[in-house]
Amino acid sequence: MNKIQIAGKEFEILLENDQISKRTRLIAIQIDVDYESRCPVFIGVLNGGFIFMADLLKEINVSCEVGFIKVSSYVGTESTGKVKEIFGLPGDLHNRDVIVVEDIVDTGLTLSYILTEIHKQNPSSVTVCTLLLKPDALTTKIEELEYVGFEIANEFVVGYGLDYDGLGRNLKDVYRAKTVVIP
Ligand code: IMP
Repeated sequence: MNKIQIAGKEFEILLENDQISKRTRLIAIQIDVDYESRCPVFIGVLNGGFIFMADLLKEINVSCEVGFIKVSSYVGTESTGKVKEIFGLPGDLHNRDVIVVEDIVDTGLTLSYILTEIHKQNPSSVTVCTLLLKPDALTTKIEELEYVGFEIANEFVVGYGLDYDGLGRNLKDVYRAKTVVIP
């Protein structure tokens, strides 16, 4: 299917599942090499990262631990602005090699917050593996961004874990929002 509709909005194919699988296998090989004889802790970010995390981990051969976190964001008081909160972050990351697995890095604000919280535990190393990156949307430099599946334009995408209005996470491929051409 090249075009789909979700909640009345049109999307067109951007990345087919086969392309994603091939790239995921290559990233896994790279991680296996980089973490040889270490035992990294993979931390997947829910909800969007669940499919990429599962597919990536099936290709990883080094001994490793796996966990998931969820970040909620809500508007705080006027002085605190937008407050984020992390649920499920393991408390024993001291001296561990941590790999954060994300579906997409957009502005990078969510990821920066997650990384700040992880660094508070003094792990030996922290890297980030993201399936998608929107380089033009990044507002902050993220040194830990080591493994990137695909760099994409600054447009809204859905599928393979990513949602539009809560829908579309179950799609096998990644779709981008069709831009409306004004005549
Ligand atoms: P950031 O804090 O701006 O980097 O946003 C990260 C989160 O926003 C991701 O983990 C996604 O949940 C969501 N997000 C950002 N861009 C998209 C998109 O194009 N489609 C679906 N979700 C997105």
